[in-house]
Amino acid sequence: MFPYKTSLKLNKNLKEPLYLQLANQFILLIREGKLLPGTKLVGSRTLADLLQVHRKTVVACYEELLLQGWVESIPKKGTFVNKNLPLIQKVTLTNTTKTSKRKNSGFNFYENNRLPEKNTEKREGVMYINDGTSDTRLTPTKEIARIYRKIASKKSVHAFLDYNSTHGNVKLREVLALYLNNSRGLKINKENILITRGSQMGVWLSSQLLLKESDIIVVGETNYSSADITFQYQKAQIKRVSVDENGLVIDQIEKLCKKQPIKAVYVTSHHHHPTTVTLSAERRIHLLNLAQKHNFAIIEDDYDYDFNYNHAPILPLASHDSSENVIYIGSVCKTVAPVFRVGYLVASEDFVNEAAKLRGYVDRQGDALLELTFAEFIKSGDLDRHIRKLMKIYLQRRDLFCKLLKNELGDYFQFEVPKGGMAIWVQLNKQYSWSEVAKEARKHQLEIGEWQRYDLANKKHNAIRIGFATYNDKEIKLLIEKLKQTFKSIKKSAY
Ligand SMILES: Cc1ncc(COP(=O)(O)O)c(C=O)c1O
Repeated sequence: MFPYKTSLKLNKNLKEPLYLQLANQFILLIREGKLLPGTKLVGSRTLADLLQVHRKTVVACYEELLLQGWVESIPKKGTFVNKNLPLIQKVTLTNTTKTSKRKNSGFNFYENNRLPEKNTEKREGVMYINDGTSDTRLTPTKEIARIYRKIASKKSVHAFLDYNSTHGNVKLREVLALYLNNSRGLKINKENILITRGSQMGVWLSSQLLLKESDIIVVGETNYSSADITFQYQKAQIKRVSVDENGLVIDQIEKLCKKQPIKAVYVTSHHHHPTTVTLSAERRIHLLNLAQKHNFAIIEDDYDYDFNYNHAPILPLASHDSSENVIYIGSVCKTVAPVFRVGYLVASEDFVNEAAKLRGYVDRQGDALLELTFAEFIKSGDLDRHIRKLMKIYLQRRDLFCKLLKNELGDYFQFEVPKGGMAIWVQLNKQYSWSEVAKEARKHQLEIGEWQRYDLANKKHNAIRIGFATYNDKEIKLLIEKLKQTFKSIKKSAY
């Protein structure tokens, strides 16, 4: 007889009922090929005696197996392992295969070398240079948690737990329409808004709907690398135009339009990514006129609208768009924290509806409770209060960072003090390279990260973005010190 007694181990201290423990172990024995299809199982009375359990436990176990289709019951004959089960290929389990990582799949899939890996694992004790993200220690987590808890404990919450519209929560769409109309001069209603999981989803959806192989999209030279990669993934043709102190050079776009039809222009108008410059008023109007004349879309990625230190925020292109050419994209990921994946895509209703349909196939819907939380957070004025608080702190950090960078490291870098945003565009003097600086910095526990991504057009401008908002005063001083030490050791090794 099969060694049931030694093969089946029950634990009365577990929460899992005994009959289920038993059923799951039978399933494992069948899957591992130890009980083959057609094998007759021992009678319930005998098994109960062997295992010292009540017979009802074994009967319940067999019923469970029957229900799941692992066994079949033949009247007057007994219970058998279902003979119609397909033979499961035996895998030899050694001690190591159980614990080692599953590295390679047993099937072929399409890898895409256009997608670089995002390495986000952080090591203790190391400082990381980022490209302009918020200080998550300032995130109003208590306030957000309070609102979330209040919403989640309402009786009416059930409606929001269900499958819902792929457009996002209606209340948030209404609140956002009002908020964006008031703060950014848009003229929209909720039908013009799709809630996304952040700006990147907006860029991706737009790219999917606008671009097919060889279609032309115009971007700045240089450009936000994730946007570039998103467009390249569609096999679109990327045409680059220069960026000067007034942003994208629109005259160059006009010239391109005369040569061939373009499908879209991607623009970070408020603070160009990565250089931080603002698109001038004149160029904004020029670009809008071109879009209207040549019927192309403008993807306006307004990723850090809220942070302006020298002037009031400049209204987005979308606020002057009278011919529905602009797709306006933003999120709370920069102002509140990257972890809250709540963003928006604003466009004409037909485009929003198509984007909503498409979104449903990669992400069925957003997180309605989180969306409701943000609706309340925005409506109550908490978001604006939070931004005002951050502005004061980040302004002070910007000034300290720029002062130290100039005074302590002026021999190595050139930069303009950014008027807004959370990063400085720092150009390294030509006798140094970021690859050697990054390598040396690592020895001083400073990680510069993917500096190559700022030059996807291979312009050799030798500049990267350095975020200043994430660090407090002490950390800013430490970061500058680490950079100083880095250059000291580079110079030493040059002699
Ligand atoms: C220019 C730009 N667009 C989009 C994003 C993505 O933002 P989100 O976190 O809202 O997806 C970023 C993030 O760094 C960004 O810098």
